Amino acid sequence: MSLIRVKNLSKNYGTKKKIPALKGFDMTLEKGEMVAIMGRSGSGKSTVLNLLSGIDQLEGGQYFFEDTDMFRLSEKNMIRFRRENIGVIFQHFALIDEFTVFQNIALPLKLRHIPSALIEEKVRNIADELGISSLLQKYPKELSGGEAQRTAIARAIITEPKLILADEPTGALDEENGLRIMTVFARLHEKGNTLVIVTHDPQVASCCQRTIRIKDGRNEP
Ligand SMILES: Nc1ncnc2c1ncn2[C@@H]1O[C@H](COP(=O)(O)OP(=O)(O)OP(=O)(O)O)[C@@H](O)[C@H]1O
Ligand SMILES: [Mg+2]
Repeated sequence: MSLIRVKNLSKNYGTKKKIPALKGFDMTLEKGEMVAIMGRSGSGKSTVLNLLSGIDQLEGGQYFFEDTDMFRLSEKNMIRFRRENIGVIFQHFALIDEFTVFQNIALPLKLRHIPSALIEEKVRNIADELGISSLLQKYPKELSGGEAQRTAIARAIITEPKLILADEPTGALDEENGLRIMTVFARLHEKGNTLVIVTHDPQVASCCQRTIRIKDGRNEP
């Protein structure tokens, strides 16, 4: 069975005057795939990720995650489903300002009631892999853009969720750190996780098995 089946996904923004952001987007993802989504600014890439993660409310179309009909989940169940199955790297990082880097990365594990010693070990390992070990006691406002981005990535992948949604995950990174992230993604891909990576960078897309193109809220053939 496919991991994800999306058909005719649509989304409007705005209340009085509706602004269509997605106008019928289709996508099927097999378990373990690593795919890129590319398209111009404003074409609907972040909207797709926000719908797949359930952060934005689904409006029209079909969305199945394995055999779960995502349109039928209540908001509460959607939040639980996301926690258990999906890791999201937001375009604007969405770190919690009041939490240190350590606490931000540890949050998904805390929510799963993992014992503290194991949390400590896991956070240190991922921070080491992403080159942010020396930043664990800092707060988000004390970080550079690239450091914040790597913290957001660490938080999204620390539980190694079935589906990882990454919105321009290398947008704020230099070449070395961009490569570092792609190495981590490749490791997760090898372990069987499924990754969707929105990117403007052809090099990042070339690390993926295929590229889905989107234009004006629709698939571009
Ligand atoms: N919260 C919102 N309210 C109103 N319009 C929105 C909102 N979010 C997105 N849009 C509009 O929906 C369309 C798609 O936006 P989206 O953020 O998905 O684009 P994108 O492909 O991710 O672009 P970028 O590459 O710049 O990140 C755009 O026209 C945008 O202006
Ligand atoms: Mg975007």
